[in-house]
Amino acid sequence: ADSYPDLKRDSRFKEISSEDVKFFKDVLGADNAIIDGYSQDATSDLEAYNADWMRKYRGQTRLVLKPDSTEQVSKILKYCNDNLIAVNPQGGNTGLVGGSVPVFDEIIINLGRMKKIRSFDDVSGIFVADAGVVLEEADNYLAEHGHIFPLDLGAKGTCQIGGNIATNAGGLRLLRYGSLHGNVLGIEAVLPDGTIVDDLSKLRKNNTGYDLKQLFIGAEGTIGIVTGISIICPQRSPAVNVAYFGLESYEKVQDAFKEAKKQLQEILSAFELMDSESQKLYNKASGNKLPLENEHAFYCLIETSGSNTDHDSEKLNAFLEHVMGEEIVEDGVVAENETQLKNLWACREGISEASQHFGGVYKYDLSIPLPQLYDLIVECRQKFQENGLMDPEDESKPVLDVVGYGHMGDANLHLNVAVRRYDKAVEKTLEPWVFEWVKERNGSISAEHGLGLAKKPFIGYSRSENMINLMGQIKKLYDPNGIMNPYKYI
Ligand code: FAD
Ligand code: MLT
Ligand code: ZN
Repeated sequence: ADSYPDLKRDSRFKEISSEDVKFFKDVLGADNAIIDGYSQDATSDLEAYNADWMRKYRGQTRLVLKPDSTEQVSKILKYCNDNLIAVNPQGGNTGLVGGSVPVFDEIIINLGRMKKIRSFDDVSGIFVADAGVVLEEADNYLAEHGHIFPLDLGAKGTCQIGGNIATNAGGLRLLRYGSLHGNVLGIEAVLPDGTIVDDLSKLRKNNTGYDLKQLFIGAEGTIGIVTGISIICPQRSPAVNVAYFGLESYEKVQDAFKEAKKQLQEILSAFELMDSESQKLYNKASGNKLPLENEHAFYCLIETSGSNTDHDSEKLNAFLEHVMGEEIVEDGVVAENETQLKNLWACREGISEASQHFGGVYKYDLSIPLPQLYDLIVECRQKFQENGLMDPEDESKPVLDVVGYGHMGDANLHLNVAVRRYDKAVEKTLEPWVFEWVKERNGSISAEHGLGLAKKPFIGYSRSENMINLMGQIKKLYDPNGIMNPYKYI
């Protein structure tokens, strides 16, 4: 684990005393609402909260608080603010930029016990729930009512809808349903001084002044804690089809994307890209067979969601016939049942796990104009071949593989460098080179994962000094004592 030799604990922040712990215990009431490493050794219980999903970032908190109401969050935050106690808000702890775990001894406020679904209206599709509801549970509830949560991602079984909002997660269906900035209608949040931001609007249209809820979408826990959300959910499509196909070049991938948009139009709900290396790594890590017989340089996964199975299948088959006839696509397969559909999706969603399976991973989540998107992977691979740090066979080399995949439909590339171990020479090869490369092409150094701790030094590659200053003003206004998720990007 990293121990952050370049960072220093801010001495303004109070060290927790038994009096503080007593205050929190009184507010929370229940025994299972607190993990207290001050009164006893709780190291092993604290581990799941201190270590992030990648096991790359690790904090040293000795106190986890799990409130079960907005009022409790408000009392806790006010106390922390009055006493200068640093706080790390936490949802499902699936974040990929080191933002979800403390750096030093910040206390963790974990939303896992706030998981009530507050209301759902099946006429408007408006869903209101506590921030701690797990994304998959929200979606399962909505499925029973014929609706779908307008966000889906590989971590759905663990991440929370409050965490999704805090990171403005993008995921697998942004292409179809758009971003949370459009779908979230209201937010309930608590500011460090205990103020409850009661903006849990259920209105689709509400032009009455500043839209302050937008500030919390993507703020990564730096200005307050989201405790409730209201979101508009679309009708769930009864007909879902998935196709997986192989292509010989990135040019052909672009052609296929153009054709998919043209021919599938309103039923297209995902267009995902995976390179050959990512699929081989998935196969090696999971042991699962790949869907196509032969190897291809690139693979795409297309999902369609519509209201009429026959109509959609006909359209998808016509599309596949066309792209194969035109030699855009080399080979393809369409899922014929639910199991096959899940297996095809697993080839895409399983890459995150596979890329860190053999040791660790350096992750870059980038927006790049589509025509240049894959050039980065090619150049990155070249760099590691030239400097001799990469060899899949040679245990002495730190880099196993460079893989490229992502949300082609949103021009969002994931560059993952799978390593046997974390190594400064690998990091030096990648940074700031990747960020410079992206800046030169007017892309973004964080498309959907956020900045957290990992990307903190690099915000200037995607935001001007003016913009960073304006963000600083907002931070000062909402969190004047700087107790919210300190040491992170702002
Ligand atoms: P956490 O990881 O707990 O926290 C993330 C950040 O939000 C932290 O800064 C934390 O302080 C803050 N936070 C959490 N809850 C709150 C709250 N209630 N109020 C205020 N701040 C809060 N991301 C994508 O965008 N697209 C993907 O496709 C995607 N796929 C993933 C697949 C896998 C396998 C994994 C492991 C991760 C993936 N992610 C993806 C990243 C991650 O899942 C998302 O960022 C997710 O939204 C984080 O939710 P969480 O509840 O786990 O939040
Ligand atoms: C994905 O699209 O799979 C995610 O953003 C997670 C990742 O990149 O690991
Ligand atoms: Zn992603």
